[in-house]
Amino acid sequence: MMEQVSIDLDSESRRIAGAVDSIFAQLLEPPGDPRDRLFAAMRHAAIGGGKKLRPLLAVAASRLFGIDEERAVRVGTAIEAIHVYSLIHDDLPAMDDDDMRRGKPTVHKAYDEAIAILAGDSLHALAFEILTDPATHDDPSVRSTLCGELARASGPSGMAGGQVMDLAAEGQSLDLPAITRLQQLKTGALIEFSVESACILARLPIEARTPYRGYARNVGLAFQIADDLIDHSGDEEVAGKRVGKDAGAGKATFVSLLGEDRARQQAQMLVEQAVEHLASHGAEADLLRAIAGFVTERDR
Ligand code: IPE
Ligand code: IPE
Ligand code: MG
Ligand code: MG
Ligand code: MG
Repeated sequence: MMEQVSIDLDSESRRIAGAVDSIFAQLLEPPGDPRDRLFAAMRHAAIGGGKKLRPLLAVAASRLFGIDEERAVRVGTAIEAIHVYSLIHDDLPAMDDDDMRRGKPTVHKAYDEAIAILAGDSLHALAFEILTDPATHDDPSVRSTLCGELARASGPSGMAGGQVMDLAAEGQSLDLPAITRLQQLKTGALIEFSVESACILARLPIEARTPYRGYARNVGLAFQIADDLIDHSGDEEVAGKRVGKDAGAGKATFVSLLGEDRARQQAQMLVEQAVEHLASHGAEADLLRAIAGFVTERDR
């Protein structure tokens, strides 16, 4: 008989966030020279804040395949490093010009713009340093695939490309396929890689990855709809960042296109579809199921 496993998402996510923070803390020990300010800015952005959703997804997906959690946490930390770099640059005056992130001043406010640019650059590089370390996987071809796929998910075919499309969407009215494409690059690519990284660590044949890619794609879109809803009607204190910016900038989002109610329904439907992709799994997929539910219920 299958044992019923109930997942305490809060405690799992606190535990994994703690593990990610301690890797960052180790890697970002200030060297005691003029670079200290750079290290302090990287620590300010990376440690002790955020939901750490991408590491959580990497760990949850790796649970399907019996991967050593320490390896999944390392890969999750690399993805989080890219994510934090993207947030630091997203907040710069040249982009969204924000002064609050994760309940604290943004890096360019707490330090300065040059340091914010360099802290982002350095976190970008750090991600690949983590992945190329043999502690991530003993097979060099696995490490190389992780690097290649994370690079693709971060660059012009992924996050950075989506950011450009997002800036170009200001003052435009995009249709649903165009918004979906934009969000899939901007937010979806890193979320999809978080799940894919577990398949890579497990050396799962490509043809066996379809359900996990389906799950990640649906979760990624639902996640961005939730982000747009938080910007539309969320609470700044809870979210830890300014809200109401998308409408102010005339940004085309799921919410501007569908309206609040339909956007919520759409996110809910995507989460249900995500969970259906896990139907062949038992309790080992419970953490992935719980994350899918959290993505639309969240208020931060
Ligand atoms: C915010 O990401 C930016 C988007 C990609 C939508 P998160 O909502 O994951 O931010 P943190 O990591 O919890 O701060
Ligand atoms: C930022 O999207 C996404 C990336 C950093 C790649 P948003 O601009 O919507 O994120 P928030 O709302 O500032 O967190
Ligand atoms: Mg932005
Ligand atoms: Mg922003
Ligand atoms: Mg947003």
